[in-house]
Amino acid sequence: MGEFSGNVIVVTGASEGIGRALCEALAPQGPRLVLAARNAERLESLASACRAAGAETLVVPCDLEKETECRELIDRTVEHFGRLDTLVANAGRTMWARADEIRDSAVFRSVMELNYFSVVWLTLAALPHLKTTRGRLVPVASVAGLTGVPERSAYCASKHAVIGFFDSLRIELADSGVTVTTVCPDFVVTEIHRRALDAQGHPLGTSPMQEARIMTAEECAALMVPAMAARRRMLITSTRGKLGRVLKLIAPGLIDRIAARAIAERK
Ligand SMILES: NC(=O)c1ccc[n+]([C@@H]2O[C@H](COP(=O)([O-])OP(=O)(O)OC[C@H]3O[C@@H](n4cnc5c(N)ncnc54)[C@H](OP(=O)(O)O)[C@@H]3O)[C@@H](O)[C@H]2O)c1
Repeated sequence: MGEFSGNVIVVTGASEGIGRALCEALAPQGPRLVLAARNAERLESLASACRAAGAETLVVPCDLEKETECRELIDRTVEHFGRLDTLVANAGRTMWARADEIRDSAVFRSVMELNYFSVVWLTLAALPHLKTTRGRLVPVASVAGLTGVPERSAYCASKHAVIGFFDSLRIELADSGVTVTTVCPDFVVTEIHRRALDAQGHPLGTSPMQEARIMTAEECAALMVPAMAARRRMLITSTRGKLGRVLKLIAPGLIDRIAARAIAERK
């Protein structure tokens, strides 16, 4: 059935985008999926599709900006399935505005709350269980966690924080059997762009991206499943993202120009 047969996998941000596509990609292997996000109706429709494909499911509607709800998600998982094998910390949000135009500090705070703090709270709650199962941590960061991106300062900062946290934790976990696979997608067609906060802290409402020119959530999920199975250290989903890691050391100005162009061209 595959590496994830019977595996108890918590996926946050499962109601949309990459999280949803990942659940659909994993389901045929027969995992026990815990689907977490705020929109219960979207989670229920995903759950029935995943059950039809071969998974067991538990739906946990929750607001992960609340630390208690992060802990409750892990508690409910272990109460229901008796164990936890994999935590995919995927729920996230973004913003789109120059730093010097942002008037509402809530933009910085809310991005950090969900993208960084919720991931830390979930991970700390999950760790004792993952140590028992020698499980997997799969934080979904971004190529924006590896380099600067204009008009994404709050988002970049939150994703750099995620990568720094897990690079440190990975060393601490070296002898535990628990592995960290940090996922760094490049642009993906999802709801995140429509929901991006503007300088006033309001959702943009429409996607500014050239959606025909960027990866689909299904393509991203198809790369994630084997990387998770192989317990790879990091998955970067684009060639420019992979090259950027190396070039940043020798030609950082060039990487700044590539990032500026990606935003200007919206792809
Ligand atoms: N799309 C991209 O271009 C891209 C690129 C690089 C990295 N990423 C990262 O990939 C991850 C997934 O993003 P996506 O693109 O799939 O975004 P998306 O389509 O907007 O999905 C985000 C998910 O997070 C959930 N969520 C948002 N706020 C939440 C909260 N307070 N509590 C619980 N769940 C919450 C949303 O569900 P509800 O609204 O139902 O709560 C939704 O299921 C994020 O960490 C993002 O930063 C995305």
